[in-house]
Amino acid sequence: MNQPKRNDPCWCGSGKKYKKCHLASDERGETRPPEARARKQPTVRPGVLSPTRLVPAHIPKPEYAESGRRGGRSRDCKKTSEDEIARMRRAGAAARAVLDEVLAAVRPGITTDALDAIAHEATIRLGGYPSPLNYMGYPKSLCTSVNEVVVHGIPDSRPLEAGDIINCDVTVYLDGMHGDCSETVFVGEVSPEAERLVRVTWECLLKGIDVVKPGVKLNVVGRVIEAHAKAHGYSIVRDFTGHGIGELFHMDPYVAHYEERRNPWVIQEGMTFTIEPMLNMGTHRCEMWADDWTAVSADLSLSAQFEHTILVTKGGAEILTGGREPFFLKGR
Ligand code: MF3
Ligand code: CO
Ligand code: CO
Repeated sequence: MNQPKRNDPCWCGSGKKYKKCHLASDERGETRPPEARARKQPTVRPGVLSPTRLVPAHIPKPEYAESGRRGGRSRDCKKTSEDEIARMRRAGAAARAVLDEVLAAVRPGITTDALDAIAHEATIRLGGYPSPLNYMGYPKSLCTSVNEVVVHGIPDSRPLEAGDIINCDVTVYLDGMHGDCSETVFVGEVSPEAERLVRVTWECLLKGIDVVKPGVKLNVVGRVIEAHAKAHGYSIVRDFTGHGIGELFHMDPYVAHYEERRNPWVIQEGMTFTIEPMLNMGTHRCEMWADDWTAVSADLSLSAQFEHTILVTKGGAEILTGGREPFFLKGR
């Protein structure tokens, strides 16, 4: 069992100092959760945030841009008009273009904050608003989730290191609609184990998309994703799901990536939602850093994710945020 010093980060991954976190309970001899006993050292720790990036006044903004509070409107997302679909396609294409620019900049030595600057500027250049910025108080324009970070990593002063894997998650608000996508890529050369996790996670997203069709139960998406992950010995994160998307960043229906036997939703033509499976090499359980955003795997095992926004069509699904060729496979 690795014993941190008083001022080291706590073994639990909270990001707090050991003395402010689990030191007292350890001294009382309380048992740690099973994952904690085999816990690795974190590869990512909270860094320094740059000043808030500004969005020019002429860019149309979502309802939360000033207040940080998201709208409560719940829309019947299956009756999507042609005009709404056209606007969703533009928002999705913009998110794709921004994500491509961010992924192309990933290399050893670049900080996640520099990637955030690229996402922010690229979004504004396209006339869009970077949806994460001030969404429920989120401080940046991009999410960067490195190694054991499962989701919602906040870009900061940490330089990427060769051997890291990083998920970059871009959402753009354009023409009154949100488009949301993410990919995991390699920083320099990575281990064969990391490569395998990333590949299987990508396959899970494709398998989920490929069962989407009007009339199919929504929980089939989670069923096929969970089956593929488990067949490779990986776990599916349960604390975060895909989601309906459109005028609002997150709305009904949520889309679990594991099988929810009792979920009554049926897929209907015109629905727009994301599928965004997160796979962990170890436990599916997550822990939250003190920033209340960054989720890490509870055993600090490696985690990967991919995300597309899709439109349900007559015969299946149209991917609104790009294609079936991920960045990590290009040129291989
Ligand atoms: N893009 C993320 C998703 O896939 C949401 C990020 S919320 C933020 O749903 F506030 F962290 F940006
Ligand atoms: Co999403
Ligand atoms: Co996303």
